[in-house]
Amino acid sequence: MTSDTDALQSSHRLRHIYVHIPFCARICPYCAFYKDLLDRSQTWRFCEAILRDLDQQCASFALTPETIYFGGGTPTALTTSQLEFLLGGFRQRLDLSSLAEWTIEANPGSVSAHKAALLRKLGVTRVSLGVQSWDNELLKVLGREHNSQQAEQSFHVLRVAGFLNINVDLMFGLPGQTVEQWKSTLEKTIALQPDHISAYCLTYEEDTEFFLRQARGELLQDTDTDAAFFEMTMSILEDAGYEQYEISNYARPGFSSVHNRAYWLGKDYLGIGPSAFSTVGMNRWQNVCDYRSYADRVLSGQSPRASAENLTNEMKRMERIALSLRTSDGVSASELNSFAQEKNEFIALGLLRESNGNLVLTRKGKELADSVAEAFL
Ligand SMILES: C[S@@+](CC[C@H](N)C(=O)[O-])C[C@H]1O[C@@H](n2cnc3c(N)ncnc32)[C@H](O)[C@@H]1O
Ligand code: SF4
Repeated sequence: MTSDTDALQSSHRLRHIYVHIPFCARICPYCAFYKDLLDRSQTWRFCEAILRDLDQQCASFALTPETIYFGGGTPTALTTSQLEFLLGGFRQRLDLSSLAEWTIEANPGSVSAHKAALLRKLGVTRVSLGVQSWDNELLKVLGREHNSQQAEQSFHVLRVAGFLNINVDLMFGLPGQTVEQWKSTLEKTIALQPDHISAYCLTYEEDTEFFLRQARGELLQDTDTDAAFFEMTMSILEDAGYEQYEISNYARPGFSSVHNRAYWLGKDYLGIGPSAFSTVGMNRWQNVCDYRSYADRVLSGQSPRASAENLTNEMKRMERIALSLRTSDGVSASELNSFAQEKNEFIALGLLRESNGNLVLTRKGKELADSVAEAFL
């Protein structure tokens, strides 16, 4: 490599990689992520395209990942041999000497002992298991493939395979869900002792079946109940020793997600796969949101990028405020210098507090996080 290339690549050294696997065995009626029904005749070609995309990126950037995150969709919808091919391909192509965390998202319906053991062997350190609820009736409402017994079994299978860092994804504010049902889902989760818990309030996303059903009045959202669910989540999980390090994310000490923290700190990241975003310096781009055209493009040597934008310092500053405000570290007071009046009002209202030169949301402030962030944008 010439010294010019050295200089170029070191200025684009990327430490965080996201890989999007869009296949799902069943499509959930509330989900707005880019995904498609699993078609086994397409998955090998797709895996080849992902590795070819990685080859192309290795030619442009110096990739020394500290974190890799395989999300979806459902990465575990791939077969064990496809995962071996894919993750083995990452191992061959990348210098993993700085890798601190390698996460894969898994659905309880597609975790087997064999698959879990292989993922562990290939270097995955963290599994994010999409449980959503321990209530079988609510799982049916959500259109999930699994029941609560299968989810519990999958959790144990992952532990037996040697995973010491497991996240459980949960959702609250579900149609017909009672506060008691949510309380018992939290208690059941705590009893399993996962290392990390993500608890999201259900959002009715445009272009989903739930959104249409809500618009027709069939599904009702009650913001007061959602606030009660959220308040209960914070109390119960904190009492059980989980730290709320971001509005929807709780971890045992030392188990916060390094990958997600990098996003929230505004670090650069590379996205591989259909629909994946990348942000490098002042450039952001998104790959095409269709796995067939993604594979066609990549395998014929073309770029999978579908859109790109140049970020401005102002856009970066706004993102930093919006994301860091949601974290327990809060936002640096110097970022909010031009908002003295808003800042003082929020402090007087008990929504913000000062801590080590940063402004941090109070518990009451967390319930109104989006409105507080909006005032600073
Ligand atoms: C990228 S998704 C996919 C993970 C995995 N396929 C699954 O569904 O279990 C990650 C998480 O986002 C959450 N999620 C998805 N759609 C949501 C919605 N409309 N509102 C709130 N949370 C949502 C779920 O908890 C889900 O586990
Ligand atoms: S919620 Fe998960 S399993 Fe359901 S459609 Fe979305 S990505 Fe697939």
